[in-house]
Amino acid sequence: MKGRGKAPGKVIVTGEHAVVYGHRAVAMAIDRHTEVELTPRDGPTSIVEAPIDDARLQRCVALLLPPDGLAVRIRSTLPIGRGLGSSASLSVALVRALASYEGRDARYDECFEKAFVAERHFHGTPSGIDHATVASGGALVFDPKGPSFERLPLGDTRLVAIDSGTAGDTKVLVAGVRARMSELRSVIDDIGAVSEAVIARLLAGGTLFDAAPELRENQRLLSALGVSTERIDALVAWALARGAAAAKLSGAGGGGIVIAVHEDPEALVANALGAGHPAFVAASAA
Ligand code: PMV
Repeated sequence: MKGRGKAPGKVIVTGEHAVVYGHRAVAMAIDRHTEVELTPRDGPTSIVEAPIDDARLQRCVALLLPPDGLAVRIRSTLPIGRGLGSSASLSVALVRALASYEGRDARYDECFEKAFVAERHFHGTPSGIDHATVASGGALVFDPKGPSFERLPLGDTRLVAIDSGTAGDTKVLVAGVRARMSELRSVIDDIGAVSEAVIARLLAGGTLFDAAPELRENQRLLSALGVSTERIDALVAWALARGAAAAKLSGAGGGGIVIAVHEDPEALVANALGAGHPAFVAASAA
């Protein structure tokens, strides 16, 4: 008897942080995944294989699986703690694996509701965009007021993800913005307006290249919000100087990854690797 579940990671294309305050945002599932395999075991449920030794994995398993009777194997091609939705991806993979173990499929609503429990535990007051994207796949406009989403016709979009080399803590960053909300409200609203402009372009059939001016502005506003870092700013400038139409942090910031929109993603990745910046092509995933 076995249960298997798989879920992608994600990038936030526009609107991180503002989405916590009711603004719509755009995200896209990417072709890096977490896979979970469940087999029976005597005694308490426990992780027997994992990509990293981290108490958060244990906690996620405790929140989403029965306390006894399962051996859990976790495999991942998704960098962890880089704003790529690794916790949401693990949560949804666990929900799918348990359903598969029980001989059924987990539908979107079940994945969303159960993963929200884990996301609240890890992120405090999450908007839900991470696990909505991971559970639905593809590219979407996420409306936190539903919460609901609308699919976006982004086709086979290929972004470049450049790793800043450090992890940002989503809970700390979101709380930091909240603590300064009286002075930051207009920046949050400006990010919301930029996201609406991106959404209008994409829903009209445009590409991320058409939305490049707004994506660049989004990064400027994220800096004004205080969630960018010197390293991220330097990587953004580096990517723009090498022909990227736009580059911005993706996710909570404070580290994590920079996403770049470039005509030749493989060339930019090769260039980044040559310059000592870990990078990969992040393609949209179903
Ligand atoms: O967990 P991350 O790094 O992908 O960030 C999530 C996006 C935020 O807008 C910062 C938080 C949220 O819950 O939407």
